[in-house]
Amino acid sequence: MSADQQQLLQTSLLAWYDVNARDLPWRQVRRVQGGPADPYKVWLSEIMLQQTTVATVIPYYTRFLEAWPRVVDLAAADQDRVLHQWQGLGYYARARNLLKCARAVVADYGGEFPDAEDELLKLPGIGAYTAGAIAAIAFQRPSTPVDGNIRRVIARLYRLAEPPPGLGATVTTHMSTLVPDDRPGDFIQALMDLGSGICTPKSPNCHACPWAADCMAQAAGDAET
Ligand code: ADE
Repeated sequence: MSADQQQLLQTSLLAWYDVNARDLPWRQVRRVQGGPADPYKVWLSEIMLQQTTVATVIPYYTRFLEAWPRVVDLAAADQDRVLHQWQGLGYYARARNLLKCARAVVADYGGEFPDAEDELLKLPGIGAYTAGAIAAIAFQRPSTPVDGNIRRVIARLYRLAEPPPGLGATVTTHMSTLVPDDRPGDFIQALMDLGSGICTPKSPNCHACPWAADCMAQAAGDAET
């Protein structure tokens, strides 16, 4: 794919996102103030979203921020209270790591989340996907996080027929040519929104997709498979 085509893909997806982005609470900082997202809020949302749907996460996310508005507040919290507030989200190792991570950010990084992916990876509860997502969304790093939604969108765009686990590496390679230096966090969240609302596993709504004209699976008529 040529550089021109890549740029067209970036421009069309970001233009679509500007109109169609889901209005999610962890995105409000940027939308309301026009500034960058708060790394603490991005991290909190990404940990909660690891194994849980957006709709379930929203009330928990809101209550956590009310109880602990900053990472220093959470770092000083009692573990029992954190686990209690987590009740219903499941996968409690996440809650214990959440507290460990907040304490490490305060103890080792002066209360500021590190902005590099390899430093984020060292923190409890942050794996490759989450480190990439935080680096892009909170720090505008052109990282290449790949979750199930992003994998499906990219696999269809390039009509990748390779089975996992090889598919993941191929998707990451394509992502590294696609993610723009300008607005990488929006680009990644646009892919998430595209994957969850339009490029769905079954009956994708290709008519509403900003990439329909570029999508190799759509051209071949086999997007669903
Ligand atoms: N799933 C994981 N991270 C997300 C985000 N930032 N927006 C929407 N869905 C997500």
